[in-house]
Amino acid sequence: MADRKRVLLIVAGGIAAYKSLELIRFLLARGFAVRCILTTSGAEFVTPLSLAALSGDKVYRELFSLTDESEMGHIELSRSVDLVVVAPATADILAKMRAGLADDLATAALLATDKPVMVAPAMNVRMWEHAATQDNLRVLAERGVHVIGPDEGPMACGEFGMGRMTEPGAIAEAIDGFFGAYRRLVGKRALVTSGPTFEAIDPVRYLANHSSGKQGHALARALAAAGAETILVSGPTQLANPAGVMVHNIRSAEEMLAACQSSLPVDIVVCAAAVADWRIKNPAAQKIKKHGPNGKGGGAPVLELAENPDILATLSKSNAQRAHLVIGFAAETESVVQHAIEKRRAKGCDWIVANDVSPGTGTFGGDANTVHVIDDAGVENWPRLGKEEVARRLTLRIADHFKKAEA
Ligand code: PMT
Repeated sequence: MADRKRVLLIVAGGIAAYKSLELIRFLLARGFAVRCILTTSGAEFVTPLSLAALSGDKVYRELFSLTDESEMGHIELSRSVDLVVVAPATADILAKMRAGLADDLATAALLATDKPVMVAPAMNVRMWEHAATQDNLRVLAERGVHVIGPDEGPMACGEFGMGRMTEPGAIAEAIDGFFGAYRRLVGKRALVTSGPTFEAIDPVRYLANHSSGKQGHALARALAAAGAETILVSGPTQLANPAGVMVHNIRSAEEMLAACQSSLPVDIVVCAAAVADWRIKNPAAQKIKKHGPNGKGGGAPVLELAENPDILATLSKSNAQRAHLVIGFAAETESVVQHAIEKRRAKGCDWIVANDVSPGTGTFGGDANTVHVIDDAGVENWPRLGKEEVARRLTLRIADHFKKAEA
């Protein structure tokens, strides 16, 4: 019992609360001890009795309960566990977490805890897409909160879209994965590239691509959570810097290469950035005039391109500073796996993570990704997962790799 990992499960008020019952069963089956806090609105969907019966433990409900506080105060409750999980995490509780409110037992425990926190959002698609929810999630992720899901699909309200709580089995797997990788990369240095590069045409225009940086930033967060000293070299994105990660903000491919090289030596390299293959050979020093230099026309300018340095290929070159493990991503629109296999060979990286970026896949800029992990052993086809989950699983795979290599 003493070495069982303890999860404090906070069940908030959403229709997905019924799935939390199943989550408890999955967690117990994986050997976790589960203690629950049920919010007032959560109790509209599931009963304390069901949670107590399944978890085999008392269910905590009241902030100002004489018996609860005398047995175990909210501070101790939040700290006597190894992980706090909020499932379902409603838009309301996410907003309260972001604001630091503590007006009930659940939010007080979340504010008081010194343990890692995971949230599994569940809400209507419009609430999920609302700028306020997205902003709250962004800030929470920046503070180190781990986000699982949500998934896309039909919803209880009859709509279709993002907002379904990730299935309990997958949440339990993510929690297992979290503990699997937790602190396993302490002592390792990791370098991650993320986002697009902007290649200047003149002082106001540039060539770029659709990368949002979500996948790369999630990787940096997951590696840092596993204890690696993590450096993120990021092109221009709308994302906040991940907590506990050293960030170099760059614009062009040449700047990205310089920042990567200045970060060496590292043990792990993950190149998730969408680096422009070409730059403008001679960017104009002044804004190019639409109607020509003297306003008398001249037509559209002809842009001469030059090849950019290949950062992944450079970092994969065998020399004294080569990282032990170099991982590339391959963004493809056809023959995804085949092209990625060829790319891995051409660039000399150890693993390559292939993803389809065709229009309609939502890979660029979206929250989910379907990847194929390719190494010497072959091709692993992963199911469609949230980008955070892709990052967590890849981190776990990296930790396993080092364990084997160092055995
Ligand atoms: O940022 P998101 O919106 O979350 O989207 C994620 C993603 C689609 C950008 C990400 O999952 C991804 O696939 N990143 C790699 C994008 C890419 O540039 O792929 P590529 O097939 O063109 O390049 C192959 C590899 O070489 C990549 O690791 C890339 O970082 C690297 N490369 C490419 C060109 C270059 N000049 N230097 C490089 O290092």
